[in-house]
Order: sequence, then structure tokens, then C-alpha cells
Amino acid sequence: MGKNWVEKYRPKRFSEIKGQELAVEKITEFIDKFPKNKKKAIVLHGPPGVGKTTLAHVISLEKNSEIFELNASDLRNKKKLQAILRPAMEQRSLLKEKKIILVDEVDGISVADWGGLAELMSLIEKTNFPVIITANDIWSQKLNVLRKKSELIQLKEINYNLIKDILIQVLRSENKFIDNDTITKISIRAKGDMRAALNDLQTVAGLETPSEMVLDERNKEIDIFNAMRLIFKNKPTNDLLSLFDSVKMSLDDIILWMEENISAEYSGEELAKAFEMLSKVDVFKGRIYKQQYWRFMVYENIFLSYGISAAKKDIKTGFTNYQKPTRKLKIWLNNQRSKKKKTIAEKYAKHVHVSQKRAMNEFPIIKQILTSNDIRKELRLDEEEIAYLEK
Ligand SMILES: Nc1ncnc2c1ncn2[C@@H]1O[C@H](COP(=O)(O)OP(=O)(O)O)[C@@H](O)[C@H]1O
Ligand SMILES: [Mg+2]
Repeated sequence: MGKNWVEKYRPKRFSEIKGQELAVEKITEFIDKFPKNKKKAIVLHGPPGVGKTTLAHVISLEKNSEIFELNASDLRNKKKLQAILRPAMEQRSLLKEKKIILVDEVDGISVADWGGLAELMSLIEKTNFPVIITANDIWSQKLNVLRKKSELIQLKEINYNLIKDILIQVLRSENKFIDNDTITKISIRAKGDMRAALNDLQTVAGLETPSEMVLDERNKEIDIFNAMRLIFKNKPTNDLLSLFDSVKMSLDDIILWMEENISAEYSGEELAKAFEMLSKVDVFKGRIYKQQYWRFMVYENIFLSYGISAAKKDIKTGFTNYQKPTRKLKIWLNNQRSKKKKTIAEKYAKHVHVSQKRAMNEFPIIKQILTSNDIRKELRLDEEEIAYLEK
């Protein structure tokens, strides 16, 4: 497992942050002015992968400040919040003179935890240190109060030309070559999300023949790579439940990919749990085929995405080069094919009144007989059966 490029190339200085000049200027003003600001908190908001978290860390580095970071799950518990955040806001910094409080991804907080949010609002009134908050969607109703109590800075999607520049720099540092066309495609596909662009780049760079990768909206491999990354690397969230809807691949193929790559990410107890989930997927798959009960597909999907994601103890760092399920795919395809052989033999046996077993044994001869189109029609062979005979 290699280092994740998203972490490896996270900007450390203002000069490395691209396309967010206005945001850099505004946050610098906010920090420099502190504590004379009317509002003691600032919200960096915008879509994923545009540099919100990065900007908060970079300003603390540039201003030689200590950073005290907490996320939405820390806000869950009001008492815990009082126990950790309040002292952090009141006490002087131990190591450095300056301190910045960062509340990352505040909109990840759920309705049930509004108490924590309210507590945060009251702490903002009294803080001795500047508070930086990040959010994807600042307009959500639960953030009404926060919007009033904070200064707002919007970070915009990063222009694809800038994304392309960054990708080229990264390839240079990595001593890797990818053709210009593919780099352009990755940059456009990212739709302003630098994290997505870096992940796609690292995936493509790990392939044997990067230039053969056709990167369009319908690209199946990239989609399954990203889906697996979300499932294996991150904490399980409800978003995972619909994740495979956007992967344009049959659920059977997705199962093969997941099965192939579980052991690259999990080991020990996690591995056992993940395979248990996979076997549940198989159980439902069996029921679907036997009982034609398509609703079970929902469960199949849940075990495969959320179930396998939840099998891990902690989130995974690093970059994994996921593998194509070639071997297993072949076994599976062979099984599908031998199923065809069986159904053909079955039809033939019925028609000429011999046993199925005999038909299977004499299959090479039957195959000869079945070169005739008329006989194929008489036996009512379907397209797949005919395709099997013509292989
Ligand atoms: N403006 C930017 N300039 C350069 N790199 C960026 C920029 N924004 C994001 N990145 C890259 O994308 C990754 C994710 O950025 P991050 O700040 O975590 O995004 P956000 O918090 O907005 O979702 C970073 O590690 C960095 O490599
Ligand atoms: Mg972030």
C-alpha cells in the first residue's frame, strides 16, 4: 500500500493553495484582526475537495498557531463538548502563543445532536480564540443560527485548468508519465473537486496501460474504484446505501470486485466480518433467483456496501491499487457457460427422448447436429445457447 496522494500533496503554504485567493485573503484578515472581530467564528463553505480543511490547517501553520480540531461526531455529546471544547477555548495555548479552533464538517451533525450544536453556538460567544468551521452545505436549516453568528467565506469549485496544473506537478514529483489527453479528461471529470482528481490520477497511474483508460462518465472501472475506496477507507454512512446505483455495473460483477479486493484492505477480524457480509449477500442472491423476489436486492446492496464498510475497526489511510477480479470472473463466466451446455442438453434430451445424462455425455456429437439452423429452431434454443454453440 502506497501513500495517498491526497495526503502527500496537501498544501502546507498559502502559495500552494490554488484558485482560492479571495478565501485566503479573507481568512487572513479574520485571524489578524482577532479578537477585535464582531463575530468570533468564520465558516468556510463549499463543495467537497476544494480546500476547506486544507485552508484551515495552512492558516494555522502560516500564523504559527496551534490547532485544536474536532469534528461533527465530537459535537454529538453536549457534556463531552463542554469537557473538551470549553477548556480549549478558555485556556491559553501551552506550546504556542496562538491557537485556532477548527470544527470540521459541521453539517455532518444529525438532527438528534442539535444540543451539541447549540452548545457550540454559546461557546462561540465566549471564545478567546478564533473558531474556524467548515461545511459543505451552509444553507441547511440546522445551521440557521450558525450563519448569523459567523462570518461566511465561500470556496468555489476549482477550475479544471488549475486542476490540470496540479496533476502535472504531482506526476512530475512522482516521476510518472500519463498522456495529456488522459490528464485533461481526469481534470474535467473531477468537476472542481481536487480530491477526486488526485484519487483518479493515482488510480490511473497505477494501471499497466494508463492511456487505454477511457475516462468518460460511463467509465466503469474508475467508478468501481471510487466506490470501493469510499466503502473500504471511510466510516460507514447512509450515503453508502445508494452508492452502487451510480456504478454502471451489474451487482454480480460488483460482488466479484468486492470479493477480490477485501483482503487488500482488511485482515483478521475485519476480514472475517467482511466475508460474513459477503456470504449474506450470497444468501439473498440465492433467494432472489429461487423466489424471484426482487426486493431482496435492496438487502444484497446494503450488506455489500454498508455492511462491508462497517466491518472495519478504524478508517484506513494510504492508497490501495485495487485489482480486477480476473480469475474469479473467469470461473464465474465458465460456470455460466456450463449452465448453457446443460440447458441445451436438456432441450435435446426431451426432444429425442433420451436421458439428460446421455445427452451431456454425447455433447460433442450433439454439437455437430446442432449446427443446423432448422434443428436449432425446432429445439427453440435461445440466443445465449446459440452463442455458446458458436464459440
Ligand atoms: N485549492 C487547492 N489547491 C491545491 N490543492 C487542493 C486545493 N483544494 C484541495 N486540494 C487538494 O485536495 C485535497 C482535499 O482537500 P480538502 O481541503 O480536504 O477539501 P475539503 O475540505 O474542501 O473537502 C487536499 O489534500 C489537496 O491535496
Ligand atoms: Mg474537509
